[in-house]
Amino acid sequence: MPRFAPFPTTRMRRVRRTPALRALVREDRLAVDDLIWPVFVREGEGTLEEVPSMPGVVRRSVDMVVEAAEQAAALGIRAMCLFPYTDASLRTEGCEEAWLPDNLSNRATRAIKAAVPGMAVMTDVALDPYNANGHDGIVRDGVIVNDESVEALVRMGLAQAEAGADILGPSDMMDGRIGALRAALEEAGHQDVTIMSYAAKYASAFYGPFRDAVGASGRLVGDKKTYQIDPLNAEAGLRCVERDLSEGADMVMVKPGLPYLDMVRRVKDRFGCPTFAYQVSGEYAMIRAAAAQGWIDGERVMMESLMAFRRAGCDGVLTYFAPEAAGLIAKGWE
Ligand code: PBG
Repeated sequence: MPRFAPFPTTRMRRVRRTPALRALVREDRLAVDDLIWPVFVREGEGTLEEVPSMPGVVRRSVDMVVEAAEQAAALGIRAMCLFPYTDASLRTEGCEEAWLPDNLSNRATRAIKAAVPGMAVMTDVALDPYNANGHDGIVRDGVIVNDESVEALVRMGLAQAEAGADILGPSDMMDGRIGALRAALEEAGHQDVTIMSYAAKYASAFYGPFRDAVGASGRLVGDKKTYQIDPLNAEAGLRCVERDLSEGADMVMVKPGLPYLDMVRRVKDRFGCPTFAYQVSGEYAMIRAAAAQGWIDGERVMMESLMAFRRAGCDGVLTYFAPEAAGLIAKGWE
């Protein structure tokens, strides 16, 4: 039995007739609070460097990251996520740069926390920006070795917590890293540092422009299919989420975003935990490119895509569009 009378008693269009009526029946809202802004950090001073495959996205020197944090805060953005573009000379097989207290990412974290203490800083726990071969874990004889990688990731995460990170974002997909990180954080007195696990992270071609941005594209030997999830596997994604929650993740992420909204909904329904999605670089690039051609209305598609994340069940979304979207939300976007 339908819960409404048939046409013409019920006319769905009645509540769509005016902006005021549409606002009254709107089921959800996109807020600036929902946005996490990923930014790329590089060496230098006063430096902004375009990322060709991500028009509108730049790599910033630490001082410019601070400026960006101040601008973001003025727009109401409360969380940023840092990704370093590491100098080629610092990329090694052992990835030692990843856990140096004064590496690029840690310097940027300190600088943001000093200038904008209220900004939540999220850092990336994965070895790819430091690895000579572009992988997220340590490679021995062509194999991405799990347990040794986890040890390295723990050292890395502890250095990030030490630098003042509020959220650690393990994006590496090694097994056991959440439990190992959580235990190490507890032991080191960082019991209040949160972990947002890249839990349902798929082996995706949508990451292409990001790998350009962090300088990992040309270096990557092979692919990441031995650790990232097969795009056809929904149950495997859910098991990874459950596993990571059981090991101490406070929040979980689905990645990529729009092509994997079904996973967002399933995660939210099944676990009810803080659920995030990453609108990744390829998604960003596609919207930008089509908009630049005049084939789509870039602003509207951007906002609609972000609303779709909310509808699917996201508490928040990592998006390169964050400042632009925040600006439109402030102007009263509907
Ligand atoms: C790797 C990492 C990737 C992204 C975030 N962290 C790429 C990958 O797994 O190769 C992708 C983000 C994006 O595409 O915007 N640790």
